[in-house]
Amino acid sequence: MKIGIASDHAGFDMKQQLVTHLVEKGYEVEDFGTHTIDRVDYPDYAKLVANDVVNGHIACGILVCGTGIGMSIAANKVKGIRAALVYNELTARLAKEHNHANIIAIGGRTQTVSEAKLIVDTYLNAHKESRHEGRIEKIAKIEEENL
Ligand code: RB5
Repeated sequence: MKIGIASDHAGFDMKQQLVTHLVEKGYEVEDFGTHTIDRVDYPDYAKLVANDVVNGHIACGILVCGTGIGMSIAANKVKGIRAALVYNELTARLAKEHNHANIIAIGGRTQTVSEAKLIVDTYLNAHKESRHEGRIEKIAKIEEENL
C-alpha cells in the first residue's frame, strides 16, 4: 500500500518526521513535497496528493500545513476526495471508520510530532465501516449535483 504525503512550509518539519516514521514502519511512501522551508502555497500540494488518490496511484494521503485547514479545504475540491482534518486518536479513527476519509490533514503548528505519529498510525490501522456506506454515497451525490 503506497501512501502519499505532502506539506507546505508550515508543515515541512512535521512531514519530514512523518515520512521517516512511516518508512520505519514499512510503508511505501511517496513524498510530493515541499522539499525545503521556502514559502509555498498549500493548494498546489493538496492537489498533487488528491489527484493521485483519485487516480489510484496512492491508496491514501497525508497532508500537513500550519493548521491542516487549508490543506483539507483544497483537497476536498477534488471530486472523490474525502479529506478530514484530524487532531487526535478519536478523530483519526472515526475519519476512516465513519467518513471513509481517503486523506487526512494535520496541523504542523497545532499538533506535536508525537501526536501526529499517533494520528497517522491510528488512521492507517482503522477500517471503513460498511454501515456508513449510504452516507458516503450521499456525499458523492452532492458532488454529482454540483459539477
Ligand atoms: C501558511 O502560513 C498557513 O496559512 C498554512 O500553512 C495553513 O495553515 C493554511 O491553512
